[in-house]
Amino acid sequence: KKIFIVAGARPNFMKIAPIIRELRQGSYPFEYKLVHTGQHYDKEMSDVFFEELEIPSPDYHLDVGSGSHAEQTAKVMVRFEEICMKDRPDLVMVVGDVNSTLACSIVAKKLGIKVAHVEAGLRSGDIRMPEEVNRIVTDSISDYFFVTEKSGADHLLAEGKPKDSIHFVGHVMIDNLFHQVEKLNRRPETSFETTFFKQRHPSYGVVTLHRPSNVDNQETLAGIIRALTEVSTALPLIFPIHPRTQANIRKFGLTIPDGIVTTKPLSYMAFLNLFKDARLVLTDSGGIQEETTALGIPCITLRENTERPITVEEGTNVIVGSDPERIVAEAKKALSGSGAAGKRPELWDGKASVRILTTLSDALYAD
Ligand code: UD1
Repeated sequence: KKIFIVAGARPNFMKIAPIIRELRQGSYPFEYKLVHTGQHYDKEMSDVFFEELEIPSPDYHLDVGSGSHAEQTAKVMVRFEEICMKDRPDLVMVVGDVNSTLACSIVAKKLGIKVAHVEAGLRSGDIRMPEEVNRIVTDSISDYFFVTEKSGADHLLAEGKPKDSIHFVGHVMIDNLFHQVEKLNRRPETSFETTFFKQRHPSYGVVTLHRPSNVDNQETLAGIIRALTEVSTALPLIFPIHPRTQANIRKFGLTIPDGIVTTKPLSYMAFLNLFKDARLVLTDSGGIQEETTALGIPCITLRENTERPITVEEGTNVIVGSDPERIVAEAKKALSGSGAAGKRPELWDGKASVRILTTLSDALYAD
């Protein structure tokens, strides 16, 4: 039997890395092929992740690049269909909620190929988010659901999915996190561009921002930068900038003050080296809410909602939206030490990949 593992954008790469590592180490009764859709293509958005996370070169590279949602999704679909027809897999594994996840699950399903969705069932309740559409559509046609937190299983059950297709396995991204933290601890890296910043600033905060709802509107983005400027008077901040955000800062003629150090997008390890020792993280990412919870670092999420509620209920995350005053108030609270304390959620133990692959081994041969 054969499975295709699909990755397309930056947040996919850290999720497939531990699955592939486990496939190479363990003995599983199927062969696998890695498909990179090319949704992210810049060296620092893609290649460095493959190198650092020890992901082998993809067997197929679809090279789709950027475009409107329809354009990008359509290109992935056309190219993925070709390889599925030529080299027919028994199962397609998709991870997360990016356009590549959606595109490949639809193609597989229509060709009668089983679909496994890793990180299934998450819902922000905000259908204006492109990722929410991707999650709902992918889950509506998947056969195997691998869930990171209880809310995921609850949503899938409420949507009528059979109980035995839902597997609460923990989180592959946390498998990767622990693996990479251990690697960094074994061999502290001095060559990262972030090392110098850490030496100069023993205490600091980290910012990431790329969600269209925050960065595509001039007023919203200006307000967030104002809030960050104020936070930076109490705590030096470092801000690796996503290409979308960079383009909009330029377009809107905004400036980032000196108290906030900006960098190009960082590699996974350079970024981990930074945030694992931060006093505070301010972000609108999905995954970083979880990685900070797993490491017990205070996280302020610049969004109105989260599809990862466990990070708020049990972890260190607070949801503050994009209102500048709230951002500043919550940052001060976190700095005073009165923020959420947090504990590590159930099954976020570094073994999700093993659980997923064991389940799939049984399932593929039971059919
Ligand atoms: C995508 C995901 C989002 C994820 C984010 C992480 C979807 C709908 N969104 O958003 O869930 O959190 O990745 O990074 O799939 N660009 C480059 N170089 C690249 C890739 C993109 O310059 O390697 C620029 C292009 O101008 C492009 C824009 O970034 O138009 C947006 O890229 P796209 O892949 O459409 O979405 P992201 O905003 O990266």
